[in-house]
Amino acid sequence: MIREHHVRKVLVGERRIAARVRKLAAEISRDHPEDPIVIIGILRGSFVFLADLVRALRRRGRRAVIDFMTLRSYGAGTRSSGRVRLAKGFSADVRGRRVLLVDDILDTGRTAEFARRYLLRRGAAGVRICALLDKPARRTRRIAADYVGFTVPDVFVVGYGLDYAGFHRDLSSIAEVTFTDSIRD
Ligand code: IMP
Ligand code: MG
Repeated sequence: MIREHHVRKVLVGERRIAARVRKLAAEISRDHPEDPIVIIGILRGSFVFLADLVRALRRRGRRAVIDFMTLRSYGAGTRSSGRVRLAKGFSADVRGRRVLLVDDILDTGRTAEFARRYLLRRGAAGVRICALLDKPARRTRRIAADYVGFTVPDVFVVGYGLDYAGFHRDLSSIAEVTFTDSIRD
């Protein structure tokens, strides 16, 4: 069910996002001497962030090979169903290579934990996590991102790839969702 909601409060605007992405690219470039950098994005939430990040890396003269895996843990609500499943794997050969995992948000941590384990099982030499957003208040897993764009409070956010029931991924900034009936499910 999709609830009546508003997207009015911008938490992070476009210019701040762009500046942060440039900084993250500088840090990642410094920490990853390998060429190319192997990047796996988690779909669908990471696609906007990842597109900007790899171009920021390229502007620094760094090449990346990019693949995606689709993971699902959410229905249409704002709470994780608690189980993560692999909807579609990637085809890149990660054996013996260090991988940069890119996700939209680290919430409970289940998705990132699942993805990291999956990559290690596929033979990756190491996995570093880059999350656009970190919502530490809701973490249930002992997992931290190596690179974080912004830390956000315990509110539901959309935009810049993040969705509510499939909507608002196309918003250029990161905004808070407020529910008209003000009941959280
Ligand atoms: P986790 O497995 O609980 O860490 O949740 C990770 C996934 O839940 C993210 O990749 C998002 O797709 C989704 N998610 C968690 N919090 C939010 C939010 O505030 N807005 C939109 N999606 C979210
Ligand atoms: Mg999502």
